[in-house]
Amino acid sequence: MIDANIASNVVSSQIDHAKWGGVIPELASRKHMEAIGRVVDQAILDAEIKKSDIDAIAFTRGPGLMGALLVGVSFAKGMAQALQIPIIEVNHMEAHILAHFIDPPVPKYPFLCLTVSGGHTQIVRVDAWDQMTILGQTLDDAAGEAFDKAGKIMGLPYPAGPLIDQLARDGNPVYDLPQAQVKKYHFSFSGLKTAFLYFLQNQMKQDPSFIENNKADIAASLQHAIIKALTKPLVLASRETGIPRIAIAGGVSANQGLRKKIKELGKQENWEIFIPRLEYCTDNAAMIAQAAWFKFDAGQFSDWNITADPRLKVNEHPSVS
Ligand code: KG4
Ligand code: ZN
Repeated sequence: MIDANIASNVVSSQIDHAKWGGVIPELASRKHMEAIGRVVDQAILDAEIKKSDIDAIAFTRGPGLMGALLVGVSFAKGMAQALQIPIIEVNHMEAHILAHFIDPPVPKYPFLCLTVSGGHTQIVRVDAWDQMTILGQTLDDAAGEAFDKAGKIMGLPYPAGPLIDQLARDGNPVYDLPQAQVKKYHFSFSGLKTAFLYFLQNQMKQDPSFIENNKADIAASLQHAIIKALTKPLVLASRETGIPRIAIAGGVSANQGLRKKIKELGKQENWEIFIPRLEYCTDNAAMIAQAAWFKFDAGQFSDWNITADPRLKVNEHPSVS
């Protein structure tokens, strides 16, 4: 395989959702539509190339919000047709994992990846760039969702994950929150969310300033509970599969507490660990390009009649032309 370089990685984030307490699908697609032309122009400018230098265009087919995905698929098709170059569909969750191939050290196969984002929480066994198996996943909320929903209960704006991470740095996990009992390699966060709600309601009855005065310790306790729920099945999966190479990926892999815990576990379990650079944790263009690069190299391009799939699964391979 020829080496790939990331020439530019432009990310446009939508902060407008904060005041609504979550992502509003219609608003998300409208904002995508407004931003996409500008973002692509900027990427070309940053990369110091001409449009005619581009050999193929990759886009996210799914999973994600239908409206937002459609904007990307349509734009990619239109631009590729104009330039007479092929298109390459990319699976969002596979791309989070394949971001580990952007920079050295790259993981050797097989490795296990804990993929933790706002919509997914999975332990994936990766045997090749195009051979992935989900060993376990969440039965209800995703880890990022757990951070965001619990943060909302605390009165934090959306997305609360990064704010809880920041608050937790100055706190200690002094409050005990219950752990869900789940079968092998699976996860569950809805019980934790409810327990957290009741815990705060009870405390606030006794002391209406409880949250205000104990923000850091509350955040640290919540983060501790989520990290425990994430790492327990990961340790089990590694021990039982005998795979000692462990990666983390997705928005929640930016969490300092999780990154620290994975490093500790790495020492304890004798793992070779792979922690992405912060800019490759949350959704970004570079991971889509890297995932597409594998397909480009293998000559796998998408049909022109391809469309978005909001529920696309890992390792679900469509027909390619
Ligand atoms: O992968 P991502 O950017 O988008 C999805 O595919 O969902 O992940 C976004 C999620 C959000 O739930 C956000 O709160 C969470 O990742 N997140 C974090 C941190 N940074 C982002 N959660 C905890 N700590 C962080 N530092
Ligand atoms: Zn993502």
